[in-house]
Amino acid sequence: MNVLVTGGSGYIGSHTCIQLLSAGHTPIVVDNLCNSNSLVLNRIEQVAGTRPLFLKGDIRDRAFLDSIFATHDIDSVIHFAGLKAVGESVALPLKYYDNNVSGTLNLVSAMDRAEVKSLIFSSSATVYGDPASVPIREDFPTSATNPYGRSKLMVEECLRDFQQANPDWSITLLRYFNPVGAHESGLLGEDPQGTPNNLLPFVAQVAVGRREKLGVFGNDYNTPDGTGVRDYIHVVDLADGHLAALDKMTHQPGTHIFNLGTGQGNSVLEMVHAFEAAAKRSIPYEIKPRRAGDIAECYADPAYAEAQLGWKAIRDLQTMVEDTWRWQSKNPHGYC
Ligand code: NAD
Ligand code: UFG
Repeated sequence: MNVLVTGGSGYIGSHTCIQLLSAGHTPIVVDNLCNSNSLVLNRIEQVAGTRPLFLKGDIRDRAFLDSIFATHDIDSVIHFAGLKAVGESVALPLKYYDNNVSGTLNLVSAMDRAEVKSLIFSSSATVYGDPASVPIREDFPTSATNPYGRSKLMVEECLRDFQQANPDWSITLLRYFNPVGAHESGLLGEDPQGTPNNLLPFVAQVAVGRREKLGVFGNDYNTPDGTGVRDYIHVVDLADGHLAALDKMTHQPGTHIFNLGTGQGNSVLEMVHAFEAAAKRSIPYEIKPRRAGDIAECYADPAYAEAQLGWKAIRDLQTMVEDTWRWQSKNPHGYC
């Protein structure tokens, strides 16, 4: 299939391009490079043996999108492009609504004009808010606690309404839990700009000597060791979840919603200790106050995705931290 991959030079998009290429699909990458580096395309080529077509531009640019759909025979769109920093979204909500919500509406309108009717959207476990219980099933109530999460929820709702009005469309909402890890080659991985917001990139930068120590945000949660518990999923497993959705859902009209997680929860300190074992060095840390908006526990019930997509995450925690460390130690300053 010819698959338009928005945000395809980003962290999850680049790993998905590799899996698409190895499965015989043709990804076409659209990205404005606001949070990625075009060197990623070289790395994809090194790993997969083929360089995807790269079209630099913004999903909010109507003429740009129309010209892509007019000149390429696109079968399906995987839509990763978006901004994802929770703290920034609180300070700059309009930036997030413009990019994530308006950008998606612009993309769907262009698809509609071009009669491309299959879309896979990057949603997030953040749409479950603070869940009443874990593991989290797809039919749990949704809510948002910050503008980033609200932008994901708004897009989910817009897409549902649109699909209902256009019943021949297939729209798949994939709710990611916590993507971590890197390609096993060590050539691709997560390369956050500035101070990392997320746990594993921060730990990796401490391990490689770029940062002095990790701050652990709270050790008084109601969890086995008091630190926050999350469902960390290897980015290549996550990428494979998109391929499964592409294979199984593209020709099934409807709005399809799946959790992409492992079903396993790990605490912050478990992650730190696993990383220490992989990197064979200690990770200094100090306990800090809880981070505003954080929840104690969040992990998926992955059963529905497995039943419907025939997909489940197979890479274990050790692989996640080893692959992260290979990437970080080979590329201490990321793509540069
Ligand atoms: P990323 O920042 O690495 O990738 C997103 C890409 O989109 C970047 O390359 C960026 O340059 C591009 N982009 C942003 N706005 C654009 C625009 N207007 N036009 C064109 N390109 C644009 O992030 P990621 O971790 O790969 O996340 C991909 C998607 O998954 C995002 O939508 C994110 O919200 C969602 N998601 C991520 C996580 C996570 O923890 N990484 C968790 C849940 C959901
Ligand atoms: N943490 C620390 N120190 C850090 C960073 C994180 O102790 O420097 C802790 C957090 O308190 C939390 C855990 O590590 O307990 C994981 O935090 P992350 O920031 O890595 O991930 P979150 O679960 O907070 O959020 C992530 C994405 C969201 C997304 C959500 C669900 O950042 O955008 O996963 O997919 F919505």
